[in-house]
Amino acid sequence: MLQDIPTPTLREARACVLETERLTLRKPTLADVKAIARLANNRRIAENTRRLPHPYSQDDAIAFVRALAAGGRETVFLIENNYAPIGMVGIDWRDEATPELGYWLGVDHWGQGFGTEAARALIDYFFEEFDLDYLISGARVANPSSRNILEKCGFQWSGVELHRFEALGSSTPVDCFRLSRSVWSSLKNWNNSTRREG
Ligand SMILES: CC(C)(COP(=O)(O)OP(=O)(O)OC[C@H]1O[C@@H](n2cnc3c(N)ncnc32)[C@H](O)[C@@H]1OP(=O)(O)O)[C@@H](O)C(=O)NCCC(=O)NCCS
Repeated sequence: MLQDIPTPTLREARACVLETERLTLRKPTLADVKAIARLANNRRIAENTRRLPHPYSQDDAIAFVRALAAGGRETVFLIENNYAPIGMVGIDWRDEATPELGYWLGVDHWGQGFGTEAARALIDYFFEEFDLDYLISGARVANPSSRNILEKCGFQWSGVELHRFEALGSSTPVDCFRLSRSVWSSLKNWNNSTRREG
């Protein structure tokens, strides 16, 4: 019976490649650790993501990829543009009932809409693959670009919480957001109306 299969097994079985107009999202491997460490080793990224350490070494990247391969509690995709890694996007399943979307891009790749494009691909994957009604996410109050991505994807603000950020070594306020399946599906089906001049 389907419900007898533990959720992690389903998650692993469905690891796949996602394609968007400009991006390919795929599972990271040990061959990617150099690129991951080069991209992630930046304080501006670490200070806006909860668990990314700073500095971020190749050993950190190796441990991360190994944990994923061992069936960790995250569904993570490496984001590639023109066959080169530019960042990561993923779903954190630490709380199985409320999976959480997260993402980061190497700073050289900011400001070109890649964050929104990658987030949208993962949101589609999430609602198409999993029978859950909500996806949550969060952005530091001092992180307007991430907030903007979430709002463009249909997330609705649900409150402010204090969360610990490893690179800060302390807790800081985070705007929390929630995207419901019904809002996602409404946005996906919102085709342009046609106007006829009478
Ligand atoms: C957040 C992050 C992924 C954004 O990626 P990106 O590719 O630059 O984002 P996009 O270009 O898709 O969209 C960013 C939006 O924020 C807007 N924005 C950027 N800086 C802004 C600011 N200071 N104030 C208001 N809006 C801002 C952009 O104009 C853009 O909106 P638009 O498309 O309507 O113009 C990237 O900055 C990053 O990796 N930051 C560090 C890690 C992080 O914050 N992760 C998110 C926490 S889970």
